[in-house]
Amino acid sequence: MKTALVTGGNRGIGLEVCRQLARRGYRVVLGARDVDRGEAAARALAGEGEIVARRVDVTDFASLPGVAAEMEREFGGVDVLVNNAGVLLDEEMPVLELPIETAKATFETNVFGALAACQAFVPGMMRRRWGRVVNVSSGASLLAYMQGYAPSYSMSKTALNAVTRQVAHAARGRNVLVNSVDPGWVRTDMGGSSAPRSVEKGAETIIQLATLDDGGPTGGFFKDGQQIPW
Ligand SMILES: NC(=O)c1ccc[n+]([C@@H]2O[C@H](COP(=O)([O-])OP(=O)(O)OC[C@H]3O[C@@H](n4cnc5c(N)ncnc54)[C@H](OP(=O)(O)O)[C@@H]3O)[C@@H](O)[C@H]2O)c1
Repeated sequence: MKTALVTGGNRGIGLEVCRQLARRGYRVVLGARDVDRGEAAARALAGEGEIVARRVDVTDFASLPGVAAEMEREFGGVDVLVNNAGVLLDEEMPVLELPIETAKATFETNVFGALAACQAFVPGMMRRRWGRVVNVSSGASLLAYMQGYAPSYSMSKTALNAVTRQVAHAARGRNVLVNSVDPGWVRTDMGGSSAPRSVEKGAETIIQLATLDDGGPTGGFFKDGQQIPW
């Protein structure tokens, strides 16, 4: 049985990814920065499959190697990592007035959190010669279309795509496939109630990339099942 860790698994798109991976027979580790919220979310998914909640705060960088070691002991390692945890702190903020602290906090979670999780979990995948990493990015990352929307969020997702490229290269030749995904605009706490997409639709391409067959794409950016330009 393959083990999948989903960061920010306690609500929104991450929760739906946990549900769908569990239904497909993966052992799911539902990562949550607040363990009570994580356990409540895992209970809500009871009956969907094997789901356990664990405390995973991606900005607590120093804790992540310990989390990886614990999962190696408990489950033989993490085979699928979905870097889903994210924050949107500056939707309406003009870039020239953006407090640097806001930009730092955004990058801590969206970029350094995902990078630190890759550093903790990808070496085990490389040793075992099997792994899938999905970095949940955004259309806001696209430099070709970038204007003034959510400056630190947008810049952080561009940087996350660069993390994808770097980690995919580092893991090449080991059957560890690392990709970015744009889930589209999804109805969650972050996306708001006017978003056109359900969480099921938002999770679709994440699931596809998390469950790629050997020889599948790596180092790419995907939306709606198709590779798209960065
Ligand atoms: N919704 C959209 O339209 C949309 C569009 C494009 C991309 N995305 C991306 O999709 C991902 C999920 O978004 P969503 O809409 O589901 O957002 P959401 O409903 O706001 O959920 C965000 C999740 O991330 C978790 N999180 C935040 N900081 C964390 C940390 N330091 N460590 C661990 N978990 C942390 C939250 O935990 P708490 O519950 O503890 O806060 C929550 O579980 C994000 O990366 C987002 O940028 C979303």
